[in-house]
Amino acid sequence: MTAPALAATGIKKRFGGVVALDGAEFTLETGEIHALLGANGSGKSTLCKIIAGAVGADAGELSLAGLAVAFASPADAASIYVTDFERAGIPAASTREASAEDVASACAI
Ligand SMILES: Nc1ncnc2c1ncn2[C@@H]1O[C@H](COP(=O)(O)OP(=O)(O)OP(=O)(O)O)[C@@H](O)[C@H]1O
Ligand SMILES: [Mg+2]
Repeated sequence: MTAPALAATGIKKRFGGVVALDGAEFTLETGEIHALLGANGSGKSTLCKIIAGAVGADAGELSLAGLAVAFASPADAASIYVTDFERAGIPAASTREASAEDVASACAI
């Protein structure tokens, strides 16, 4: 079985007394498109920042194609490109109508 393109397992992150992530799991297979949904403050941005190397996790593992990685900075995570819809040229007003191709080009890993 081929390892997933990206796997985040057991990701934990606290900001002081705030638990942002407590064992978050995310797996991405090549060619897949995912939507990360959750209430305000549920940790979506924090998980994306950890995957992109912008924030360090307190615990957990990241792997790319089955190889464990540890990112100290976004430059370290240069093979991962995280952006938002507006910066990717997809207007927020049309987010619900964005095509799979738009999203795929905005979230290339
Ligand atoms: N740099 C930070 N310092 C302190 N607390 C933070 C920091 N970043 C996030 N948090 C806290 O961690 C929790 C998760 O925040 P996060 O921004 O990841 O959630 P989110 O799901 O992206 O929310 P939203 O839907 O509002 O974008 C929240 O309680 C937030 O206040
Ligand atoms: Mg957010």
